[in-house]
Amino acid sequence: MTKARKAEITRLIEQGDWLPVAGSRKNVKEHDYYPIVADLLDLDEVQELKDFKHHIVTTRFQHSLNVSYYNYRLCRLLHLDAASAARAGLLHDLYHYDTKKYTSGRHGLRHSAYHPMVALERAESIAPINERERDMIVKHMWPVTPSRPKYAETYVLTFVDKYCAVIEFLLPQPQRLRSWVKKRREKRHSNVH
Ligand SMILES: [Fe+2]
Ligand SMILES: [Fe+2]
Repeated sequence: MTKARKAEITRLIEQGDWLPVAGSRKNVKEHDYYPIVADLLDLDEVQELKDFKHHIVTTRFQHSLNVSYYNYRLCRLLHLDAASAARAGLLHDLYHYDTKKYTSGRHGLRHSAYHPMVALERAESIAPINERERDMIVKHMWPVTPSRPKYAETYVLTFVDKYCAVIEFLLPQPQRLRSWVKKRREKRHSNVH
């Protein structure tokens, strides 16, 4: 891609006319995926996910969009309920607290078990959620959490969620990866001495 094209896309992203997903050069606003989630993307509760870092290198909004898009694509390819996959993917991490500051408090649950329940409660407060979407949101951490998915779409989401975490971390900047490796090496070195 030329520098001029990159600058043009950056401008379009800033204007809100281009919605990027990790690992793709597509503008998802021009994809048949977009109308399925457009109403959810407009909601404050979803937009506010931009204020939270996620998986170290991205925002919770971008991660949710990535999961939603790839979950849609994969479920459509597999002739599953792609619309529910897109909507549940966008809402699967709909919680508004800093993961690093999370404490289990009185309920004693780990973040991995707690946040899918919060996401489902929030999702149900902003949009109608069908049975399949509910299963996808509340069980997206399987097998870290023990409750087995009921639907094929949920199994797909558990895979896509992890796949996106990997590409979000690895794709954006080779430089970022190099600096992470360097820091790990330095830490290991200082622990040895
Ligand atoms: Fe999650
Ligand atoms: Fe996630």
